[in-house]
Amino acid sequence: MNVINNIRQLRSWGTINKGTRCIFVPTMGAMHEGHAALIRAAREIAGQNGNVAVSIFVNPLQFGPGEDFEKYPRTLIEDLGICRDNGADMIFAPKADEIYPPDRSIVLHETSLSHLLCGASRPGHFDGVCTVVAKLFNLIQPDDVVFGKKDYQQLAIIRRLVRDLDFNVVLHAIDTMREEDGLAMSSRNRYLSPDERAQAPALRAALVAARTAWKNGERTPAALQTLITKHIQEHAPLGRIDYVSAVDAATLQPVSATTELVVIAVAVCFGTTRLIDNVELK
Ligand code: PAJ
Repeated sequence: MNVINNIRQLRSWGTINKGTRCIFVPTMGAMHEGHAALIRAAREIAGQNGNVAVSIFVNPLQFGPGEDFEKYPRTLIEDLGICRDNGADMIFAPKADEIYPPDRSIVLHETSLSHLLCGASRPGHFDGVCTVVAKLFNLIQPDDVVFGKKDYQQLAIIRRLVRDLDFNVVLHAIDTMREEDGLAMSSRNRYLSPDERAQAPALRAALVAARTAWKNGERTPAALQTLITKHIQEHAPLGRIDYVSAVDAATLQPVSATTELVVIAVAVCFGTTRLIDNVELK
């Protein structure tokens, strides 16, 4: 496994591996079984002859003022072990000044999906994600890229990024990995107090209850949202609901006659820790 931390080395890795199919998994590190599942999926897509590339980069551009950029967990040694154990071939782990020149003046701006859901309370976040992902795609030149459904809005926005900027990549979406009690794995779960941790599985339980209601014929978004809100209020009183939204999975806009797939997304804050989860209704 090659560990690379500067662009010069990355370019020579690209030259040496020209013609070899490359599957890319972007991450911010602090890896858990969710990241491991993405790397395994990439390994599967790559087969024996392809390359699996993983980036580990805590992207300052996607953290707002007062967010957890400084205290975001950095666990590079453990991350490299997870990458190796799950079949990665190359890790790109640059420092911020390698990626962003001090006088950089160009950023991407997404105009339709970013102000909704998580974007409403995190202005600029998805522009930061789009900017770094576009840069990483340009640097690594992958054939395929792998993202998690856990960050559903991010996934929908990356689909737009690929389509609207003509990136020649195939995007693969991987199901959310969960703890045994249903809590979606997240690098931020470690911030929860024991009491908050005990209540956090209510997000998943509420979404599963809504999915059951949907399977039993409940199709009204407002009714599904109310069911979830009540469930979370009852079972997670330490949580403060940021949003519960049943939306069109592709546009993230309200469900309409042309909606092919509905997704319900939730965000709940436990203290300063913001947890998200979602369920596709099908
Ligand atoms: P990060 O939060 O490290 O997530 C990296 C990838 O892992 C994302 O595609 C995310 O959806 C996926 N992931 C996280 N938790 C998961 C889980 N429980 N199950 C399955 N997949 C999971 O998302 C980012 O980093 C950044 O925004 C990034 C795209 C790297 C740009 O900086």
